Amino acid sequence: MSKFMRSFAAVAAISALTLTGCGREEEPPAVEGSGEAVSSGFDEGAAIGVALPQKTSENWVLAEQLFNEDLTEAGYEPDVQFANGGVSEQQNQINSMITNGVKVLVVGAIDGGQLGTQLQQAEDAGITVIAYDRLLTDTENVDYYVAYDNFQVGELQGQALLDGMKEAKAEGPYNIELFAGSPDDANAQVFFDGAMSVLQPEIDSGNVVIVSGQDTFDQAVTQGWKAENAQKRMDTLLAGNYGSTELDGVLSPNDTLARAILTSVEGAGKALPVVTGQDSEVESVKSIMEGKQYSTINKDTRALVDHTIEMVNNLQSGEELEINDPDSYDNGVKTVPAYLLDPQIVTEDNAAEAYADDPTLGPLTK
Ligand code: BGC
Repeated sequence: MSKFMRSFAAVAAISALTLTGCGREEEPPAVEGSGEAVSSGFDEGAAIGVALPQKTSENWVLAEQLFNEDLTEAGYEPDVQFANGGVSEQQNQINSMITNGVKVLVVGAIDGGQLGTQLQQAEDAGITVIAYDRLLTDTENVDYYVAYDNFQVGELQGQALLDGMKEAKAEGPYNIELFAGSPDDANAQVFFDGAMSVLQPEIDSGNVVIVSGQDTFDQAVTQGWKAENAQKRMDTLLAGNYGSTELDGVLSPNDTLARAILTSVEGAGKALPVVTGQDSEVESVKSIMEGKQYSTINKDTRALVDHTIEMVNNLQSGEELEINDPDSYDNGVKTVPAYLLDPQIVTEDNAAEAYADDPTLGPLTK
Protein backbone atom coordinates (compact mmCIF):
# COMPACT_ATOMS: atom_id res chain seq x y z
CA MET A 1 0.00 0.00 0.00
CA SER A 2 1.55 3.40 0.84
CA LYS A 3 5.30 3.53 1.24
CA PHE A 4 4.77 4.47 4.87
CA MET A 5 2.66 1.40 5.50
CA ARG A 6 4.98 -0.81 3.49
CA SER A 7 7.89 0.04 5.77
CA PHE A 8 5.84 -1.28 8.64
CA ALA A 9 5.02 -4.49 6.86
CA ALA A 10 8.28 -6.31 7.54
CA VAL A 11 8.35 -5.33 11.20
CA ALA A 12 4.72 -6.18 11.75
CA ALA A 13 4.83 -9.44 9.83
CA ILE A 14 5.73 -11.69 12.69
CA SER A 15 3.28 -10.33 15.21
CA ALA A 16 0.54 -10.17 12.58
CA LEU A 17 1.00 -13.83 11.81
CA THR A 18 -0.18 -14.78 15.21
CA LEU A 19 -3.19 -12.49 14.94
CA THR A 20 -4.42 -13.18 11.46
CA GLY A 21 -4.60 -16.92 11.00
CA CYS A 22 -7.66 -18.48 9.44
CA GLY A 23 -9.24 -19.16 12.76
CA ARG A 24 -8.90 -22.92 12.67
CA GLU A 25 -8.00 -24.79 15.81
CA GLU A 26 -5.43 -27.10 14.26
CA GLU A 27 -3.22 -24.26 13.04
CA PRO A 28 0.47 -24.97 13.49
CA PRO A 29 2.48 -22.13 15.01
CA ALA A 30 3.53 -19.52 12.47
CA VAL A 31 7.09 -19.73 11.24
CA GLU A 32 9.19 -16.62 11.33
CA GLY A 33 9.40 -14.97 7.88
CA SER A 34 6.76 -14.06 5.39
CA GLY A 35 4.43 -16.94 5.92
CA GLU A 36 0.97 -17.44 7.29
CA ALA A 37 -0.10 -20.44 9.30
CA VAL A 38 -2.63 -22.69 7.58
CA SER A 39 -4.59 -25.81 8.39
CA SER A 40 -3.79 -29.32 7.34
CA GLY A 41 -4.90 -29.25 3.71
CA PHE A 42 -7.55 -31.04 1.66
CA ASP A 43 -7.95 -33.54 -1.20
CA GLU A 44 -6.10 -32.93 -4.43
CA GLY A 45 -9.08 -33.01 -6.77
CA ALA A 46 -11.20 -30.71 -4.59
CA ALA A 47 -13.79 -28.28 -5.90
CA ILE A 48 -12.70 -24.62 -5.83
CA GLY A 49 -15.29 -21.83 -6.10
CA VAL A 50 -14.51 -18.59 -7.90
CA ALA A 51 -17.22 -15.91 -7.63
CA LEU A 52 -16.63 -13.07 -10.06
CA PRO A 53 -18.55 -9.75 -10.19
CA GLN A 54 -20.06 -8.15 -13.30
CA LYS A 55 -18.11 -7.88 -16.54
CA THR A 56 -17.25 -4.22 -15.91
CA SER A 57 -13.78 -4.54 -17.44
CA GLU A 58 -11.83 -6.99 -19.60
CA ASN A 59 -9.67 -8.21 -16.70
CA TRP A 60 -12.63 -10.05 -15.17
CA VAL A 61 -13.43 -11.85 -18.41
CA LEU A 62 -9.84 -13.00 -18.76
CA ALA A 63 -9.82 -14.07 -15.10
CA GLU A 64 -12.82 -16.36 -15.73
CA GLN A 65 -11.03 -18.10 -18.58
CA LEU A 66 -7.74 -18.42 -16.70
CA PHE A 67 -9.32 -19.73 -13.49
CA ASN A 68 -11.22 -22.37 -15.46
CA GLU A 69 -8.20 -23.48 -17.47
CA ASP A 70 -5.52 -23.25 -14.81
CA LEU A 71 -7.47 -24.73 -11.90
CA THR A 72 -8.40 -27.66 -14.15
CA GLU A 73 -4.80 -28.07 -15.18
CA ALA A 74 -3.74 -28.03 -11.53
CA GLY A 75 -6.10 -30.96 -10.89
CA TYR A 76 -8.99 -29.15 -9.20
CA GLU A 77 -12.64 -28.96 -10.11
CA PRO A 78 -13.34 -25.26 -10.77
CA ASP A 79 -16.74 -23.69 -10.22
CA VAL A 80 -16.37 -20.21 -11.75
CA GLN A 81 -19.43 -17.91 -11.88
CA PHE A 82 -20.13 -14.37 -13.01
CA ALA A 83 -22.85 -12.39 -11.24
CA ASN A 84 -24.05 -10.12 -14.01
CA GLY A 85 -27.46 -9.96 -12.37
CA GLY A 86 -26.09 -8.18 -9.29
CA VAL A 87 -25.51 -8.75 -5.59
CA SER A 88 -28.30 -11.25 -4.92
CA GLU A 89 -27.16 -13.40 -7.82
CA GLN A 90 -23.65 -13.43 -6.38
CA GLN A 91 -25.04 -14.37 -2.95
CA ASN A 92 -26.92 -17.29 -4.51
CA GLN A 93 -23.89 -18.43 -6.46
CA ILE A 94 -21.75 -18.47 -3.31
CA ASN A 95 -24.47 -20.41 -1.49
CA SER A 96 -24.47 -23.05 -4.16
CA MET A 97 -20.65 -23.25 -4.16
CA ILE A 98 -20.78 -23.91 -0.42
CA THR A 99 -23.45 -26.56 -0.89
CA ASN A 100 -21.34 -28.14 -3.62
CA GLY A 101 -18.51 -28.61 -1.14
CA VAL A 102 -15.81 -26.25 -2.39
CA LYS A 103 -12.70 -26.17 -0.20
CA VAL A 104 -11.63 -22.65 -1.13
CA LEU A 105 -13.80 -19.70 -2.14
CA VAL A 106 -12.12 -17.04 -4.26
CA VAL A 107 -14.35 -13.96 -4.30
CA GLY A 108 -14.21 -10.90 -6.53
CA ALA A 109 -17.16 -9.13 -4.94
CA ILE A 110 -19.65 -6.78 -6.57
CA ASP A 111 -20.20 -5.26 -3.15
CA GLY A 112 -17.67 -6.55 -0.63
CA GLY A 113 -19.93 -5.59 2.29
CA GLN A 114 -22.97 -7.60 1.19
CA LEU A 115 -21.71 -11.16 1.54
CA GLY A 116 -21.59 -11.47 5.35
CA THR A 117 -24.20 -14.23 5.63
CA GLN A 118 -22.64 -16.34 2.89
CA LEU A 119 -19.12 -15.91 4.28
CA GLN A 120 -20.30 -16.94 7.75
CA GLN A 121 -21.69 -20.10 6.17
CA ALA A 122 -18.37 -20.65 4.42
CA GLU A 123 -16.54 -20.29 7.72
CA ASP A 124 -18.95 -22.74 9.39
CA ALA A 125 -18.25 -25.24 6.61
CA GLY A 126 -14.46 -24.89 7.09
CA ILE A 127 -13.92 -23.20 3.71
CA THR A 128 -10.98 -20.83 3.29
CA VAL A 129 -12.00 -17.50 1.77
CA ILE A 130 -9.66 -15.48 -0.44
CA ALA A 131 -10.75 -11.97 -1.45
CA TYR A 132 -9.61 -11.59 -5.05
CA ASP A 133 -8.78 -8.09 -6.42
CA ARG A 134 -11.47 -6.45 -4.24
CA LEU A 135 -11.51 -6.57 -0.44
CA LEU A 136 -14.38 -8.24 1.44
CA THR A 137 -15.50 -5.81 4.12
CA ASP A 138 -17.35 -5.89 7.46
CA THR A 139 -16.74 -9.57 8.03
CA GLU A 140 -14.44 -11.72 10.16
CA ASN A 141 -14.78 -14.47 7.62
CA VAL A 142 -12.18 -13.60 5.05
CA ASP A 143 -8.80 -15.29 5.40
CA TYR A 144 -6.62 -13.65 2.74
CA TYR A 145 -6.58 -10.86 0.20
CA VAL A 146 -4.74 -11.05 -3.13
CA ALA A 147 -4.62 -8.03 -5.45
CA TYR A 148 -2.48 -5.46 -7.17
CA ASP A 149 -1.49 -2.69 -4.77
CA ASN A 150 -4.54 -0.45 -5.12
CA PHE A 151 -3.09 2.57 -3.35
CA GLN A 152 -0.07 2.44 -5.62
CA VAL A 153 -2.40 2.25 -8.65
CA GLY A 154 -3.90 5.55 -7.51
CA GLU A 155 -0.50 7.13 -6.87
CA LEU A 156 0.65 6.14 -10.36
CA GLN A 157 -2.53 7.59 -11.89
CA GLY A 158 -2.14 10.87 -10.00
CA GLN A 159 1.51 11.18 -11.05
CA ALA A 160 0.70 10.29 -14.68
CA LEU A 161 -1.95 13.00 -14.76
CA LEU A 162 0.58 15.60 -13.56
CA ASP A 163 3.31 14.36 -15.91
CA GLY A 164 0.98 14.29 -18.91
CA MET A 165 -0.31 17.81 -18.30
CA LYS A 166 3.25 19.09 -17.91
CA GLU A 167 4.25 17.47 -21.20
CA ALA A 168 1.30 19.12 -22.93
CA LYS A 169 1.78 22.54 -21.32
CA ALA A 170 4.98 23.39 -19.45
CA GLU A 171 3.40 25.79 -16.93
CA GLY A 172 0.25 25.56 -14.78
CA PRO A 173 -2.20 26.27 -13.44
CA TYR A 174 -3.87 23.17 -14.84
CA ASN A 175 -7.64 22.67 -14.95
CA ILE A 176 -8.78 19.17 -14.03
CA GLU A 177 -11.78 17.03 -13.07
CA LEU A 178 -11.82 13.92 -10.89
CA PHE A 179 -13.59 10.61 -11.49
CA ALA A 180 -13.72 7.66 -9.09
CA GLY A 181 -14.99 4.09 -9.46
CA SER A 182 -18.11 2.48 -8.03
CA PRO A 183 -18.56 3.13 -4.30
CA ASP A 184 -19.67 -0.46 -3.57
CA ASP A 185 -16.24 -1.68 -4.75
CA ALA A 186 -13.77 -1.25 -1.87
CA ASN A 187 -10.99 -0.56 -4.38
CA ALA A 188 -12.59 2.64 -5.64
CA GLN A 189 -11.87 4.65 -2.48
CA VAL A 190 -8.31 3.31 -2.28
CA PHE A 191 -7.56 4.21 -5.92
CA PHE A 192 -8.96 7.69 -5.26
CA ASP A 193 -6.99 8.16 -2.03
CA GLY A 194 -3.77 7.07 -3.74
CA ALA A 195 -4.30 9.58 -6.54
CA MET A 196 -5.25 12.37 -4.16
CA SER A 197 -2.10 11.78 -2.10
CA VAL A 198 -0.20 12.95 -5.18
CA LEU A 199 -2.65 15.61 -6.44
CA GLN A 200 -3.59 17.30 -3.17
CA PRO A 201 -0.33 19.25 -2.68
CA GLU A 202 -0.65 20.59 -6.24
CA ILE A 203 -4.27 21.54 -5.59
CA ASP A 204 -3.32 23.24 -2.33
CA SER A 205 -0.60 25.25 -4.05
CA GLY A 206 -3.03 26.37 -6.76
CA ASN A 207 -1.04 24.72 -9.54
CA VAL A 208 -3.95 22.34 -10.17
CA VAL A 209 -7.55 23.58 -10.12
CA ILE A 210 -10.69 21.42 -9.98
CA VAL A 211 -12.84 23.85 -11.93
CA SER A 212 -16.19 22.29 -10.95
CA GLY A 213 -15.19 22.25 -7.28
CA GLN A 214 -16.24 18.57 -7.12
CA ASP A 215 -13.29 17.34 -5.12
CA THR A 216 -14.67 14.60 -2.86
CA PHE A 217 -14.91 10.88 -3.48
CA ASP A 218 -18.71 11.00 -3.15
CA GLN A 219 -18.94 13.65 -5.85
CA ALA A 220 -16.55 11.82 -8.14
CA VAL A 221 -18.00 8.27 -7.99
CA THR A 222 -19.27 6.34 -11.01
CA GLN A 223 -22.03 3.93 -9.97
CA GLY A 224 -21.49 0.38 -11.20
CA TRP A 225 -18.26 1.38 -12.99
CA LYS A 226 -20.61 2.14 -15.91
CA ALA A 227 -19.28 4.02 -18.93
CA GLU A 228 -22.60 5.76 -19.54
CA ASN A 229 -22.58 7.21 -16.02
CA ALA A 230 -19.10 8.66 -16.47
CA GLN A 231 -20.00 10.03 -19.90
CA LYS A 232 -23.13 11.70 -18.55
CA ARG A 233 -21.26 13.27 -15.65
CA MET A 234 -18.52 14.53 -17.98
CA ASP A 235 -21.17 16.03 -20.32
CA THR A 236 -22.66 17.86 -17.34
CA LEU A 237 -19.30 19.07 -16.04
CA LEU A 238 -18.34 20.39 -19.47
CA ALA A 239 -21.67 22.13 -20.04
CA GLY A 240 -21.62 23.74 -16.61
CA ASN A 241 -17.97 24.77 -16.26
CA TYR A 242 -16.03 24.78 -19.50
CA GLY A 243 -17.70 27.25 -21.88
CA SER A 244 -14.49 28.98 -22.86
CA THR A 245 -12.33 27.37 -20.21
CA GLU A 246 -9.69 24.83 -21.17
CA LEU A 247 -9.75 21.37 -19.59
CA ASP A 248 -6.20 20.09 -19.14
CA GLY A 249 -6.68 16.76 -17.44
CA VAL A 250 -9.11 14.19 -16.05
CA LEU A 251 -8.33 11.61 -13.39
CA SER A 252 -10.05 8.44 -14.57
CA PRO A 253 -9.80 5.30 -12.42
CA ASN A 254 -9.95 2.83 -15.33
CA ASP A 255 -9.88 2.45 -19.09
CA THR A 256 -13.60 1.91 -19.64
CA LEU A 257 -14.35 5.23 -17.94
CA ALA A 258 -11.39 6.95 -19.64
CA ARG A 259 -12.83 6.16 -23.07
CA ALA A 260 -16.28 7.40 -21.99
CA ILE A 261 -14.73 10.66 -20.76
CA LEU A 262 -12.83 11.12 -24.02
CA THR A 263 -16.03 10.46 -26.00
CA SER A 264 -17.79 13.16 -24.01
CA VAL A 265 -15.01 15.70 -24.56
CA GLU A 266 -14.88 14.91 -28.27
CA GLY A 267 -18.64 15.30 -28.46
CA ALA A 268 -18.37 18.74 -26.87
CA GLY A 269 -15.80 19.72 -29.52
CA LYS A 270 -13.12 20.53 -26.94
CA ALA A 271 -9.40 19.79 -27.20
CA LEU A 272 -8.63 16.42 -25.65
CA PRO A 273 -7.28 16.58 -22.08
CA VAL A 274 -4.78 14.22 -20.49
CA VAL A 275 -6.83 11.23 -19.26
CA THR A 276 -5.53 8.40 -17.09
CA GLY A 277 -6.79 4.81 -16.99
CA GLN A 278 -6.23 1.28 -15.71
CA ASP A 279 -6.48 -2.33 -16.98
CA SER A 280 -4.61 -2.29 -20.33
CA GLU A 281 -7.85 -2.74 -22.27
CA VAL A 282 -7.39 -3.35 -25.99
CA GLU A 283 -9.22 -0.19 -27.13
CA SER A 284 -7.40 1.97 -24.58
CA VAL A 285 -3.96 0.69 -25.52
CA LYS A 286 -4.84 1.52 -29.15
CA SER A 287 -5.99 4.95 -28.04
CA ILE A 288 -2.72 5.49 -26.15
CA MET A 289 -0.71 4.53 -29.24
CA GLU A 290 -2.79 7.05 -31.23
CA GLY A 291 -1.96 9.75 -28.67
CA LYS A 292 -5.51 10.10 -27.28
CA GLN A 293 -5.77 8.43 -23.85
CA TYR A 294 -2.62 9.30 -21.93
CA SER A 295 -1.97 6.34 -19.64
CA THR A 296 -3.19 3.01 -18.36
CA ILE A 297 -2.06 0.65 -15.61
CA ASN A 298 -0.67 -2.76 -16.40
CA LYS A 299 -2.07 -5.26 -13.88
CA ASP A 300 -1.37 -8.55 -15.63
CA THR A 301 -4.39 -10.75 -14.88
CA ARG A 302 -2.35 -13.87 -15.58
CA ALA A 303 0.07 -13.06 -12.75
CA LEU A 304 -2.80 -12.38 -10.33
CA VAL A 305 -4.60 -15.62 -11.20
CA ASP A 306 -1.29 -17.54 -11.04
CA HIS A 307 -0.62 -16.22 -7.57
CA THR A 308 -4.15 -17.03 -6.42
CA ILE A 309 -3.77 -20.61 -7.63
CA GLU A 310 -0.44 -20.81 -5.83
CA MET A 311 -2.32 -19.84 -2.66
CA VAL A 312 -4.90 -22.57 -3.34
CA ASN A 313 -2.05 -25.07 -3.82
CA ASN A 314 -0.53 -24.03 -0.49
CA LEU A 315 -3.87 -24.46 1.22
CA GLN A 316 -4.33 -27.85 -0.42
CA SER A 317 -0.99 -29.14 0.80
CA GLY A 318 -1.22 -27.42 4.18
CA GLU A 319 1.80 -25.20 3.51
CA GLU A 320 2.27 -21.64 4.62
CA LEU A 321 0.91 -18.84 2.47
CA GLU A 322 3.19 -15.99 1.61
CA ILE A 323 1.93 -12.65 2.89
CA ASN A 324 3.76 -9.47 1.94
CA ASP A 325 1.36 -6.92 3.42
CA PRO A 326 -0.08 -8.05 6.72
CA ASP A 327 -1.41 -4.75 8.00
CA SER A 328 -2.69 -2.37 5.30
CA TYR A 329 -6.13 -3.83 4.63
CA ASP A 330 -8.46 -3.20 7.54
CA ASN A 331 -11.89 -4.37 6.40
CA GLY A 332 -13.74 -2.66 9.24
CA VAL A 333 -13.70 -5.77 11.44
CA LYS A 334 -10.22 -7.25 10.98
CA THR A 335 -6.97 -6.65 9.19
CA VAL A 336 -6.86 -9.05 6.27
CA PRO A 337 -3.42 -10.49 5.50
CA ALA A 338 -2.63 -9.58 1.93
CA TYR A 339 -0.36 -10.52 -0.91
CA LEU A 340 -0.02 -7.51 -3.20
CA LEU A 341 1.49 -7.38 -6.67
CA ASP A 342 3.08 -4.27 -8.15
CA PRO A 343 1.16 -2.38 -10.82
CA GLN A 344 3.00 -0.63 -13.66
CA ILE A 345 2.17 2.70 -15.29
CA VAL A 346 2.02 2.55 -19.10
CA THR A 347 2.09 5.48 -21.53
CA GLU A 348 2.93 5.67 -25.23
CA ASP A 349 6.60 5.73 -24.22
CA ASN A 350 6.79 2.28 -22.64
CA ALA A 351 3.74 0.46 -24.04
CA ALA A 352 5.69 -1.60 -26.60
CA GLU A 353 8.04 -2.79 -23.91
CA ALA A 354 5.33 -3.33 -21.27
CA TYR A 355 3.21 -5.53 -23.53
CA ALA A 356 6.01 -7.23 -25.48
CA ASP A 357 5.03 -10.62 -24.05
CA ASP A 358 1.29 -10.01 -23.90
CA PRO A 359 -0.50 -12.35 -26.31
CA THR A 360 -3.50 -10.00 -26.68
CA LEU A 361 -1.77 -6.62 -26.90
CA GLY A 362 1.73 -7.14 -28.22
CA PRO A 363 3.80 -6.60 -30.19
CA LEU A 364 3.09 -2.88 -30.51
CA THR A 365 4.82 -0.37 -32.73
CA LYS A 366 4.97 3.32 -32.02
C1 BGC B 1 -10.54 -3.49 -10.47
C2 BGC B 1 -10.19 -2.67 -11.68
C3 BGC B 1 -11.38 -2.55 -12.62
C4 BGC B 1 -12.66 -2.19 -11.87
C5 BGC B 1 -13.89 -2.25 -12.74
C6 BGC B 1 -11.77 -2.92 -9.85
O1 BGC B 1 -12.09 -3.53 -8.67
O2 BGC B 1 -9.45 -3.50 -9.57
O3 BGC B 1 -9.09 -3.25 -12.35
O4 BGC B 1 -11.15 -1.56 -13.56
O5 BGC B 1 -12.82 -3.05 -10.78
O6 BGC B 1 -14.10 -3.54 -13.25
